[in-house]
Amino acid sequence: MALAQIIGTGSYAPTQVITNQELEKIVDTSDAWIVERTGIKQRRRAAPGEATSDMALAAARQALAMAGTRPEEIDLIVVGTVTADMPMPSCAALVQAKLGAVNAFAFDVGAACAGALYAMSVADQFLRNGKVRRALVIGADLFTRILNWEDRNTCILFGDGAGAMVLAPAEEEGRGILSTHLKTDGTLSEILAIPGGGSREPMTEEGVRAHRQTVTMNGREVFKCAVRTLTEVTLEGLRANGLVPAQVDHVIAHQANIRILEAVMHRLEIPLEKCWLNLDKYGNTSAASVPLALDEAHRAGRFKRGDVIAMMAIGAGMTWGCSVVRW
Ligand code: ACO
Repeated sequence: MALAQIIGTGSYAPTQVITNQELEKIVDTSDAWIVERTGIKQRRRAAPGEATSDMALAAARQALAMAGTRPEEIDLIVVGTVTADMPMPSCAALVQAKLGAVNAFAFDVGAACAGALYAMSVADQFLRNGKVRRALVIGADLFTRILNWEDRNTCILFGDGAGAMVLAPAEEEGRGILSTHLKTDGTLSEILAIPGGGSREPMTEEGVRAHRQTVTMNGREVFKCAVRTLTEVTLEGLRANGLVPAQVDHVIAHQANIRILEAVMHRLEIPLEKCWLNLDKYGNTSAASVPLALDEAHRAGRFKRGDVIAMMAIGAGMTWGCSVVRW
């Protein structure tokens, strides 16, 4: 059974930059506080009229170009997102149409910031069992439209973006996505959520005024959960492949907070230099975070054939996971 391999990557970030200094004018915060507590210096905001599928499309086109794959060769499109253009149809269906990927079936996966890893795992299964030959995996989110811009606890953290990858059967034995371990703990659903706007609490004018359709978060609980779970699941993923942290060449991690990543790398005893960092530029781009970092690291020439890459993410749910890839 051939493994699935990443044969192309792409990413997109909107052009408008929001600096920490600009946030100082909106909420009671400071550049120094944000940089010290999170490592974030700026984030991107989608242009008026720009939606998640537009960002996803731009990232997808780059990934397809790198993979030398035409849209009609794609059999499957999976988009990790919690901010699709509209409740239905899926973002993936819109991307399929815009790309002209006429032979692909397409659907979204909702695992918040872990969305791209979950999406990649789904596509990986279809490839491994031979049902598809080419899959397009996208992580895309547009959080700047679901934030409470009066809440300094959350509005400083997030930005908009998209990342994409094309998967195909590996041509060489032992290379590709070696394993993915995914976890969920729904008992933690309240520490990071958008309480309103769904079937439990349909959107009302009053709810909108009370910011019920925006992100709420218990930052300290999310922080503790992230450090514990990312460490555990990465060790589990490595162990399953007979690997130890010292054999990891690169870490592509969800870019939520530099202190979370420092703590995880410290516990894993992996030098922080092995972890691709771009959260200073983009903030937390939710499902886009991992594929965006992967694309940047790849285009920067970081990866050599045979390198071991640990990809890890955590998001609302709580959901988390780790993929171990032999490049
Ligand atoms: N500017 C200035 N002060 C602030 C800000 C801000 N933007 N936000 C909070 N504060 C204040 C708080 O009100 C608090 O003040 P108080 O002591 O008077 O009550 C003080 O700073 C300390 O607050 P803490 O919440 O203890 O600060 P902490 O060091 O935990 O940092 C943070 C907060 C950055 C949110 C941190 O908890 C964190 O990063 N948690 C992880 C959350 C995360 O990454 N979420 C992303 C989505 S989830 C994911 O992607 C996995």
